[in-house]
Amino acid sequence: MGPDGSPERWPVIALSNIVKRYVMGGNDVYATRGVSLSVSRGEFVAVMGASGSGKSTLMNIIGCLDVPTSGHYRLDGVNIRDLDDRELSRIRNRKIGFVFQGFNLLPTMSAIANVELPMAYAGVPTKERRHRAGGALESVGLADRMGHFPNEMSGGQQQRVAVARAIVTNPSLILADEPTGNLDSTSSVDVMSAFASLHAQGRTVVMITHEEDIAAYATRVVRLRDGVITQDHHQTPVHPHESHLAHARQAEGSSALAGRP
Ligand SMILES: Nc1ncnc2c1ncn2[C@@H]1O[C@H](COP(=O)(O)OP(=O)(O)OP(=O)(O)O)[C@@H](O)[C@H]1O
Ligand SMILES: [Mg+2]
Repeated sequence: MGPDGSPERWPVIALSNIVKRYVMGGNDVYATRGVSLSVSRGEFVAVMGASGSGKSTLMNIIGCLDVPTSGHYRLDGVNIRDLDDRELSRIRNRKIGFVFQGFNLLPTMSAIANVELPMAYAGVPTKERRHRAGGALESVGLADRMGHFPNEMSGGQQQRVAVARAIVTNPSLILADEPTGNLDSTSSVDVMSAFASLHAQGRTVVMITHEEDIAAYATRVVRLRDGVITQDHHQTPVHPHESHLAHARQAEGSSALAGRP
């Protein structure tokens, strides 16, 4: 908390001159070579760049899954360098919701039980867990799929369960690494609709993607090349139903989100 008690004054992400060096067979490999980036509350950022440009390295650092060789990182005002492993995993659980390319749902648990999991680890009472998990599933358009198991849902529905699981602890930041990488265009639109509504609710989202169509949903696009930022611009995001993908989806005749507000 700052002197005025308001954490809102800080950017959610403040990276300053982040370098990540690996030593491979006696040679230095630089995955990032001095990345500085500030992301404010409520931004929806797409990180793009060719394979090997350093996107996942940067995401791992932002997600406190890895530490930089040099440079500074403040997450929600907290200097990551000051934390030990236990404190790092605590801040990770409290402040970050992860969405990966593979949905990582537990196959033996229903949608709602999967979404409840992070709260079970955090010791939230059962009744409140169920209530919050239901709300999170509703917000991604899955009110009618709560009792379904992963193998009873489409890829897009499974990924939306993963999004619900990422937001249910009310994290400061949602980090997504290729969230539509395994999905067809119909399901991609459904998942991006879910991200667009999280953004509309004021949540902060950072997402890696290779696809321009997917990056078009973000309010800001950051491009990496050889471990440095080469472009960083703000844009007006497309509405899910105006995008090329939505056209593709109409062509496929899907109405998965029909009836959603
Ligand atoms: N553990 C490691 N040891 C050595 N080099 C690594 C390691 N991890 C990444 N690198 C190197 O760092 C660079 C950046 O890798 P990174 O995984 O961040 O790329 P990326 O942009 O996510 O690529 P992709 O789009 O293929 O996922 C690459 O040249 C990679 O070979
Ligand atoms: Mg990667």
